[in-house]
Amino acid sequence: MAWFPDLYRSAVGKKAVMAVTGIILFAFVLGHLLGNLKLYLGPEALNGYARFLRTAGEPVVPENVVLWAVRLVLIAAVALHVWAAWQLSRVSRAARPDAYVAGTRIHTTYASRTMRWGGVIILLFVIYHLLHLTWGTVHPKFVPGDVYHNVVTGFHEWWVSLFYIAAQVALGFHLYHGLWSMFQSLGWNHPRFNLWRNGFAHAFAWLITLGNVSFPVAVLSGLVH
Ligand code: HEM
Repeated sequence: MAWFPDLYRSAVGKKAVMAVTGIILFAFVLGHLLGNLKLYLGPEALNGYARFLRTAGEPVVPENVVLWAVRLVLIAAVALHVWAAWQLSRVSRAARPDAYVAGTRIHTTYASRTMRWGGVIILLFVIYHLLHLTWGTVHPKFVPGDVYHNVVTGFHEWWVSLFYIAAQVALGFHLYHGLWSMFQSLGWNHPRFNLWRNGFAHAFAWLITLGNVSFPVAVLSGLVH
């Protein structure tokens, strides 16, 4: 186990933490989008799906146990992702003792700056989103268990929808840059792969962004009511 403290301290180890936790969070946003698509199938489908999430694992384990196991993995993934990002940005600052002069910023720094602020915006969005659609604290018409009603009445407020849409755009950029740099850390930056990984990163980011943006747009346009 002597390698462990070295790996823990190394940039490579932190990039591995970013990549593994990033993959868990990618899987979550994809799964969450697929689940939310049930909005288009009507109240029974979406509310039934939400009930399934709470009762998954029954009768082997009581209600909410599987849900909480998944939640704990997600909370750990977010915490480690933020920690590794923080550590890596300290390492890169230390490697660049002189601040950049305005106008000489290189592309990688631009990407890392959007990653940092994008990450902060996504974190703030998730906190608001939990208060809005999970706990209902900031949702004036929240009905526990009626997820369809909560989503539709929630997105009827145009400023709520606008905030959701803006956050999805930030998420899209974050997913694109995240995937691109994850492939870089994995060493897949041979010219032969570049076209492929760029295409994959774009396709995944667009899929999640357009899918998520479609929900508030569908409600505001009256397609879902
Ligand atoms: C417009 C897009 C989205 C819609 C319509 C949506 C909808 C919902 C709904 C209805 C719930 C509550 C489900 C329930 O109580 O059974 C929920 C929970 C949640 N959402 Fe979203 N969501 C969206 C985007 C996102 C994004 C982009 C993220 C993360 C970056 C996210 C993270 C979460 C989390 C962490 C929960 C709590 C899950 C739990 O532990 O119960 N959501 N979402």
